[in-house]
This record gives sequence, structure tokens and C-alpha cells, in this order.
Amino acid sequence: MKKRIAIFISGRGSNMRSLLERIKKGDLKAQCEFVFSDRHDAPGLQKAQHYGVTTYSFGVKEFSSKERYEAELLRLLQKHQVEFIVCAGYMKLIGKTLLDAYPYRIVNIHPSLLPAFPGLRAQKQALDYGVRYSGCTVHFIDEGVDTGPIIAQAVCEVSPKDTEESLSRKILKLEHELYWRALQKIFAGYEIKGRRVIFKR
Ligand code: GRF
Repeated sequence: MKKRIAIFISGRGSNMRSLLERIKKGDLKAQCEFVFSDRHDAPGLQKAQHYGVTTYSFGVKEFSSKERYEAELLRLLQKHQVEFIVCAGYMKLIGKTLLDAYPYRIVNIHPSLLPAFPGLRAQKQALDYGVRYSGCTVHFIDEGVDTGPIIAQAVCEVSPKDTEESLSRKILKLEHELYWRALQKIFAGYEIKGRRVIFKR
């Protein structure tokens, strides 16, 4: 059975695009019900429309509170019977309204090997720290910043010549390969034991 998903973005949407491509090819057994952006000018919105996917965009500031903003999102998610929320460069923290409605069913991708370098500009943080390896992490979202249970990770070398841009490119390539595979794994069933994600298959 195909899982019904919504993809949340804020920007260019290259991860979103690679997921839509995998869905189109039949590699990822999912149906993307809609793409949401909290920014009206996110370039990813047009890309989603090219795939014939419904898009919505509205910002927190258009509502009297974050709760009201998320309540509207929840209304859309329920209307479309969405089972999983897939964040792909969505720059807002997920609040209680959505976390309570989708416990361990909101997924994110982050450009570092968590728990190292959570938050913004993870690639720069990794370079500044001087690590020899970095990569990306797919994880469930909880109430912290990039702290939820880890679903999958991929690793790359950091070369002394790397800049923030070159390392970001290297990691992004890994992200596009990792994200759909990680989703496929959890769609086949999983349970959470402590912090550990145990796949059923
Ligand atoms: C990616 O690096 C992702 O890991 C991070 O934000 C970036 C989004 O890029 N959460 P894109 O919009 O998918 O191209």
C-alpha cells in the first residue's frame, strides 16, 4: 500500500524533487498529497507543480499565532488523509499541534552526522570543527532541534580543500540517495525502542 505523504519545504526543494522523481519512477511507494511551503517565493513550489502535485503556501505571520498556523496545516493534512509529514529544507520548528497529531510520523533530513552539528549551517560547523568525515541524517522530528530518533545516515570524507559550498554539494548528493531509501524502510513498518528505530523488515 502506498503511504500518503505531504512534503514541507521553505526553499529550492532539491530533496523534494528527488523524492517526487522516485515516486514517479515507482521506486518509492508513496503518494504525495501536497507540497507545503511557509514561503510564497520558495522555488521548490514551481518544481512541485511540474510534477502535477498540489501546492499550498502560507506563512506563520499570516496567522495570529503559531498554533493557529499549525491548526490550518493540520486541517489540510487531515483533509488529504496524510500519514507522514516529510520535511525537506523546511526551516520552521515543528510545534506541539503537529507533533501531537503525528507522533514519530514527521521525518527530516539534516546535512550532518547527528548528534554532531545540529541547527543551521551544519556543513560550516563541520568544517570549522575540522572533522574528517561528515554526511547526512534522516531522523524523526521531536520537540528538540535535530534531536529525534535516527532512521538512516550516509557518510562522506571531508577533504582539506573543501569549502562550505563544496561540502554542501557532496552532502546534498548523498541526501538525494539516502532520503527515499530511508522513507521506504520506515513505510515497511517500524517501532521506536528508547531512541532506537527498529525496522520491521
Ligand atoms: C538540505 O541540505 C537539507 O539537509 C536541509 O536543508 C537543505 C534543503 O535543500 N534540511 P533542498 O531545498 O532540498 O535543496
